[in-house]
Amino acid sequence: MQTSDNDHQTTDRAAAADTLMLTTVNAETDHERTFALTYLRDGDRLLLTAEPGLDWHRDLFAHPMVSVAIGAETFGAVAVPAEDGSTVALERSGPEDAEVDNLADLLVHVHTWLRSQLRHVRAEADVYFAARAAHDGPGDAPKPGLGLQLRQHCLAFCQSLEFHHTHEDHMFPAIEGDHPHLREAIDRLRSEHRTVARIQGELAALLSDIGSADPAAFSTELDRLSEELTAHLDYEEEALIPVLAEIPFPPTAA
Ligand SMILES: [Fe+2]
Ligand SMILES: [Fe+2]
Repeated sequence: MQTSDNDHQTTDRAAAADTLMLTTVNAETDHERTFALTYLRDGDRLLLTAEPGLDWHRDLFAHPMVSVAIGAETFGAVAVPAEDGSTVALERSGPEDAEVDNLADLLVHVHTWLRSQLRHVRAEADVYFAARAAHDGPGDAPKPGLGLQLRQHCLAFCQSLEFHHTHEDHMFPAIEGDHPHLREAIDRLRSEHRTVARIQGELAALLSDIGSADPAAFSTELDRLSEELTAHLDYEEEALIPVLAEIPFPPTAA
């Protein structure tokens, strides 16, 4: 059952132990919307009962990253719908809380998480395509839902990366203004953001039909993304850490 955030009853429902508030990004408008939903725990995951066609369920295919609130706790998660649409698993995701004193710490913390997510998607892609290849031969059929799982994780990673780069693009003019000697480096970083975005777009096109995606094409795009992104993260840290280390985070009152 779903209840929109316009319904005052949702606040009371969210206080119950078996109810959470799920914030999705509307697949049609790109605006956030919140639903109160009941859930079950399945190890580290939370399971929602679903029906294809529900508003929140449709949103998850366009935007797998969601925000979950249970009582006073809020965290990011990746939503992985079951192939038959009957359930959705919410897997906690996003950088863990860490000791961060300045913007350099924050940059390294987010980059470390992005590197780990990239390795995770690579490993999952290898498992998925190996299972598909085995299915063509004498081996077992791929586990149902494996393709959808890869699609959701890969899309969530790409959207988190896009969010990070958009945030940096907004921050660059202020850094250039204060540190004119970094203009050339920042031009290079902007250009690398555009290159990474182009490859992400190509990967997203392959993800739209993961069941028939060409493994070689997918693997090539993922390798390109990995190579370009790793070089970009390394260069960005080398160029910006000295100045970002001087900027306290969280910001201190003036
Ligand atoms: Fe960047
Ligand atoms: Fe970055």
